[in-house]
Amino acid sequence: MKVLFVASEAAPFIKTGGLADVMGALPKALQALGVETALVIPNYEGISEEYKSRMETVYTGTVDLSWRNQYMGVQKLVADGIPVYFIDNEYYFKREKLYGFDDDAERFAFFVKATLAMLPHIDFRPDVIHSNDWHTGMLGAYLKEDFMQDPFYQGLKNIYTIHNLKYQGVFGREIVENVLGMPLRLLYNGNIENGGNVNFMKAGMCYADYITTVSSTYAEEITYPYFGEGLEDYVALCAGKISGILNGLDDKEYDPETDQNLPVCFNGTNVFIKKPLAKEELQRELGLTVDREIPVLAMITRLVEAKGLDLFTYIMDELMEEQVQLVVVGTGDEAYANALRELAWTHPGNVSVNILFDEGLARRVYAGADLFIMPSRYEACGLSQMIAMRYGAVPVVRATGGLKDSVKNFDKYTAVDGNGLSFENFNAHELLFTIKRGLTYFADKPLWEKLVLNAMQSDNSWTRSARAYADLYDKVAGVPEPAETVSEEQVEATAEEILKAVEGTPEAEAGLQAAAQENEAEVNNITKAEPETVPAEETHSGAAEEAEPVKKKTAAKKAATKKTTAKKAATKKSAAKKNVAGDAEEGAETKKVSTRKRAAKKSAAVTDAASVETPAPAEPKKRGRKPGTKIKKKDAE
Ligand code: GLC
Repeated sequence: MKVLFVASEAAPFIKTGGLADVMGALPKALQALGVETALVIPNYEGISEEYKSRMETVYTGTVDLSWRNQYMGVQKLVADGIPVYFIDNEYYFKREKLYGFDDDAERFAFFVKATLAMLPHIDFRPDVIHSNDWHTGMLGAYLKEDFMQDPFYQGLKNIYTIHNLKYQGVFGREIVENVLGMPLRLLYNGNIENGGNVNFMKAGMCYADYITTVSSTYAEEITYPYFGEGLEDYVALCAGKISGILNGLDDKEYDPETDQNLPVCFNGTNVFIKKPLAKEELQRELGLTVDREIPVLAMITRLVEAKGLDLFTYIMDELMEEQVQLVVVGTGDEAYANALRELAWTHPGNVSVNILFDEGLARRVYAGADLFIMPSRYEACGLSQMIAMRYGAVPVVRATGGLKDSVKNFDKYTAVDGNGLSFENFNAHELLFTIKRGLTYFADKPLWEKLVLNAMQSDNSWTRSARAYADLYDKVAGVPEPAETVSEEQVEATAEEILKAVEGTPEAEAGLQAAAQENEAEVNNITKAEPETVPAEETHSGAAEEAEPVKKKTAAKKAATKKTTAKKAATKKSAAKKNVAGDAEEGAETKKVSTRKRAAKKSAAVTDAASVETPAPAEPKKRGRKPGTKIKKKDAE
């Protein structure tokens, strides 16, 4: 199975969000399971020299976009065993940021068309193209409306993953012919349209052979208007081809035991000795009162409404009436940044607000924090809660999307398997009360330690997710189960062995006779029941059979190729098989035992061969498939 991932960003090359993390980790996890993967992203200006210097040009050509004919280059490097292709065009991608330009529709239409165009020229012909989010939404449309006319592309499947339904790639309808170079009928029939506009996300869903989202809960939530962002009805229509697979966490990348950013490293065994030291270091670094007994609450987040910042800013004054410290790291809307700054001014020594993003600081905050707050309005999957758990910071989340699927509410009465705290409604005081519940757990050391360990031991590995994707690729690309084949020789050999073992015992002889007679009857039945499969001259009556054994056999075999009939015959035969098997068991010598064991090894395969190859009526002793089959089957039981 070969899978090509197509996305607008991928770690470690270029990253603005969680999509890049997934693209950096999933292809590797799949490769480890034996799925061959490759990745393609645009060759942005922002990709560091470290990677650019390792790229080689593997193809150059042009791509048509309506009346335009644009240069495309394909650069390649291999990272961690994964071939990574970079679509090159400086006009489109030599810019200071990744998204947010007037010609984004054109840039990403170019990107996916170039991706398809490069396939015959690289050393990787995928079975499945796995595209992600709106930027790659047009890929399926170009594939099925255009490229598939070329036999090279026929049979290629497309899986489309929604990471965030909020960003859909919505553009004016005038781009259909003039930019996309697509027929207007795709707008009128709704394939690439929503609410009168061109919608890349909808196109991605429409043309995909299968759609996934990054958690099961999100897959269901987006069928409702609250989460569906105007596409809920269409999502619901796609019910038969959409499901969720929860993302994982790169547990090598995020490991408190080896993380170079931490002043003190720790693991599940020494966490209660070392983590308090990491916490004190963090308090020192951020100018907070150094005291390991004060619970440290943390938020590492974009400061936007979707992440629940309005809930948090609403209750933060009330929260600070408790004996707690708060650390915030992140950038975003100025209104939230200012509200948080003000909180820091009014609570010196207890609140540290850092309006910036610094990966090293983020890691030290995860390691030093006791509670990690994530009250998202929606969250397709979310990564921070998984990092927090691995670093022993207990998450407090709103039960939505991937937060609901990865954080199980801890119940102090059972204190068994919960790994965090969660609340249902998007309500500021539900958030506050849930944080307060966490504070009461913090004050009860044995309970708290159980909760911290549960969080640290949560299984968020990519392997689990990768297995689910691998199964999906098999399902979508129609890879058949390997057929269990047994040669005619093997069947004969097994039969001979069994016959040798039973021959001579009077009971076995009687059993074989009975089987032979039953076979004769079946052959007659089959040829009568299925006259169209047997030429007239080959049909026979019971009287003719002695004289024409070969003809009869041929007729029987032809008839038996009708699978259902053959199966019926096989069922009928079972009585005769039982006879012989029973006899063989009773009358056999020591040698029989080993013979039967060998026969048993051939197990189901021989059974199949025997039942399809119906009746060999004339020479039951010689062919003897039924005895062989039965004895083996008995052994298996
Ligand atoms: C988007 C989603 C986030 C998810 C990430 C990776 O950024 O908003 O929830 O974790 O994609 O799938």
